[in-house]
Amino acid sequence: MAYPEEILEEIKARLDIVEVVREYVRLERRGRNFVGLCPFHSEKTASFTVSPEKQIFYCFGCGVGGDIFTFIRKIDNLDFPEAVRRLADKAGVRLPQEKGSFYNEQQWSQRQRLYQMHALAAKFYSLVLRGPEGEKARNYIRTRGIGEEIAKKFQLGYAPETPQALIKYLKGEGFQTEEILLAGLAVEREGGIHDRFRNRLMFPIWDHRGRVIGFGGRVLDAGLPKYVNSPETLLFRKGYHLYALHLASEAIRQQGFALIVEGYMDAIAAHEAGIENAVATMGTAFTPQQAKELRRFTSEAVIAYDADAAGQAATLRGLSILQEAGVKVRVLELPEGLDPDDFLKCKGARAFNEMVAGASSLIAYRLEQAIKTYGLRHEHSLAKVVAEVVPDIARIENAVERDGYIRLISKRIALPEQSIYEEVKKYIHKKDKEVRIRHTIAESKHNFIAGPDVQETFLLSAYIHDPALAQMIEGSLGEDFWECPECKFVRDEIKKLRFEKPGLAGDVLINLLEKEIGVASGLAIIARLKIQSDARVLFTPEAVKEAINRVRARNLHRLIKTKEQELAQAEISGAGRNIKELQEEIFRLQQELRLVRSGKEGVNFERGTAAKAANC
Ligand code: UTP
Ligand code: MN
Repeated sequence: MAYPEEILEEIKARLDIVEVVREYVRLERRGRNFVGLCPFHSEKTASFTVSPEKQIFYCFGCGVGGDIFTFIRKIDNLDFPEAVRRLADKAGVRLPQEKGSFYNEQQWSQRQRLYQMHALAAKFYSLVLRGPEGEKARNYIRTRGIGEEIAKKFQLGYAPETPQALIKYLKGEGFQTEEILLAGLAVEREGGIHDRFRNRLMFPIWDHRGRVIGFGGRVLDAGLPKYVNSPETLLFRKGYHLYALHLASEAIRQQGFALIVEGYMDAIAAHEAGIENAVATMGTAFTPQQAKELRRFTSEAVIAYDADAAGQAATLRGLSILQEAGVKVRVLELPEGLDPDDFLKCKGARAFNEMVAGASSLIAYRLEQAIKTYGLRHEHSLAKVVAEVVPDIARIENAVERDGYIRLISKRIALPEQSIYEEVKKYIHKKDKEVRIRHTIAESKHNFIAGPDVQETFLLSAYIHDPALAQMIEGSLGEDFWECPECKFVRDEIKKLRFEKPGLAGDVLINLLEKEIGVASGLAIIARLKIQSDARVLFTPEAVKEAINRVRARNLHRLIKTKEQELAQAEISGAGRNIKELQEEIFRLQQELRLVRSGKEGVNFERGTAAKAANC
């Protein structure tokens, strides 16, 4: 099924390619991009590159590249509609059903109409502001210290008291009542309809391309609610936009960071003071979507909320979201009771800029917050304080920087660096494992289509239940023969467990493993291993020998196929000498395959021989 462009755009707008790729590949920031080891070819140095700005990936090693859809198609071996479905699901986008489609041509044109309507509404409000009705609002703007130029730049306006002023205007421009309601610019009440915004100072809200998509309207006195905002519409979604981003983006790029404030007024006051890299979250805690918007332009941010707001749990979570999205965050602590607007008014731009320059890292900030909360008196409070900062430290990709923070914390709370380091290591290990398991599950699903490898799972059971058999298996087949990714994963884990805790019986190992990877035990193989372990009698040397031979036969068969292809190629290109060599080799391989199939060749059962084979 072909999906309309509109839907694909919607999915892309809601997802971040960096986050999606991160579920499969460990990425590190390098300048504007993220890099990692390419999942599509094997490499030792990272040439797989993801651009958050462009929302694409490209591997300089193998030349594979594309957008988020290409990535999912390739990594999970899906066709295009499958990839769209998978990502739509992730993004929470409803796809067109056979009947009653949610997205369609009509809706696309509806959106275009909404953009037009919002642009006109902004024009209308700013005209009213400049007219006789706007005097009160003009005075208010003046008392807030906003000059003519900035008022224009921010397209400030005034919504008059008249209940249907905007509705009339928009109807005059050819819009229908239903459309105006859909745009959220009017509300229906008691059978009648009137303007949503009345007697309010109007702040247009834009998307990052500068299109008006909604409004905030402030009362001109101390009335409540202080602000009325656009509801969720086809254009506007709470938590998806950053106020003034399109006005700030150039300065953000130039200065290398964004200043994030909470309110419309704070952002405007900052721009008024010449601080043009300021954007506002509009009163909500930072969301991943906003992080994505921001990261189009920068990977550094200074957050300047008022003191009480900054300490709140929701805010701290929001800051972690930013950090996780690869934006380095610093926190500016304003004096109690002052927001950036107040601070700029009473202390001036220079003092504010000094605060910005001296803003502390998120980790330092969080550390102080945790110390305030838990204190440093007892061991358990120390542990809590450390636990609070560990995730942030673990997220730092640069080892030097990470060590720097550990040193800083160690000094501040008088705890040896080593203990903090241990906690960070534990955390990283846990996270890595989660990523690996996710990857394994994705791979094994893919593998499942080709059919799970019966021989390998059988050999894996034997591997787990008897260390001697384990040696024999890998002695005959080598350590890298596992092709089923689930099997390989489990085998690696078992090997580690066996090393850490020697002498444990097979079922104990399986249980341990299950507990350890319980976070994501979508691993069907664990269930299968458990079932097989109930029938331990299966693992006779003869049965194992047979399984080994089958795997060898499989490998030989494959090798012969490749050689035959090479031979065909050589014959076409007429490389005479090669032809002979290849023919001989194929003959030899075929003989070997026959022997293996007849069970006469392959496995030596004397214990110890296998180990020798593995080591030489
Ligand atoms: P503030 O109350 O700090 O508003 O809320 P402000 O922008 O600083 O306005 P002034 O200085 O009091 O005039 C911060 C932001 O939270 C959202 C708005 O986006 C506001 O800018 N908010 C606040 C609402 O949406 N509704 C409200 O009733 C209050
Ligand atoms: Mn304020």
